[in-house]
Amino acid sequence: MTVNVSMTINGEAVGPVEIPEDLMMAEFLHEYLNLTGTRISCEQGVCYACSIIVDGAEGGRIMPACVTGALWCDGRSVRTIEGHATRDDEGRITALSPVQEAFLTHFSFQCSYCTPGFVNAATVLVERLGRQPVPRARLEDEILEAMNGNICRCTGYVRYLTAVRDVILATPGLVTGDEGDAA
Ligand code: FES
Ligand code: FES
Repeated sequence: MTVNVSMTINGEAVGPVEIPEDLMMAEFLHEYLNLTGTRISCEQGVCYACSIIVDGAEGGRIMPACVTGALWCDGRSVRTIEGHATRDDEGRITALSPVQEAFLTHFSFQCSYCTPGFVNAATVLVERLGRQPVPRARLEDEILEAMNGNICRCTGYVRYLTAVRDVILATPGLVTGDEGDAA
């Protein structure tokens, strides 16, 4: 059985598109929209390589695209890794997001297969702290909790976490208390 779905992806209206009703978002992005930056690994909702951001009234939340139905996303607003950088009118990247820049600066990734998922998770955390700042003393726990679902098979966790902390501490208003204590 097929259904028609429409949604917003990276700020642009998509659809209606006719799809099998049990199609997962990962396949929808790859096969129907040619958005191949979302990485598929475990296909079981475990590693979060495939994560996307689904926006709502409470802000963005991370969903694993391999086990999230495209039909469930009907009418929703979704962001993928392709939506983070700033682009010109012809689609060329003109600037990376602060999280992307930090991952480059810190050499956070090796093979990079997990990187889109880490970018999405870190971005959701930064956005949440923008709405609900946390005390500096709680920041390490917040980062660990936010990134806990993302598996890096190259085991580059420390550089990812350090980069996320640096972005947060460099962004005014995300942390309360002694923001200068970045060590
Ligand atoms: S590929 Fe989706 S959670 Fe692992
Ligand atoms: S950098 Fe290779 S899986 Fe994370």
